[in-house]
Amino acid sequence: MAVYPIASTEEIPEGTFKMIQIQEKSIGLYNVKGDYYAVNNYCPHQGAELCKGIVCGTTLESQVYEFIYGREQEILRCPWHGWEFDLRTGKSLFSEKVRVRSFPVSVENGQISITIGK
Ligand code: FES
Repeated sequence: MAVYPIASTEEIPEGTFKMIQIQEKSIGLYNVKGDYYAVNNYCPHQGAELCKGIVCGTTLESQVYEFIYGREQEILRCPWHGWEFDLRTGKSLFSEKVRVRSFPVSVENGQISITIGK
């Protein structure tokens, strides 16, 4: 397990992200409403560069003929076929079993670090 200091909090304002390269891994670091999340830039479907997808929200559970949009900034949509992933957990929105690899993020004194390895 290794901890990598990767950015300052000032570099990544809310609603933005930064691409980083560590150990030949391409990783997207996202600021979601003030919290930071790191995900692998590789879609588990067919290997698209996931972080080239848009960050958005999604439709929430609702009644028939009712559409409620929410969770803005929390969803990353793959640019190839539109699979959606929860940036907070890495899980896809359609199955608990499908997820993008994510990495633990810590913030200390304005310095953001991620942990890679077990
Ligand atoms: S490669 Fe990402 S949804 Fe198909």
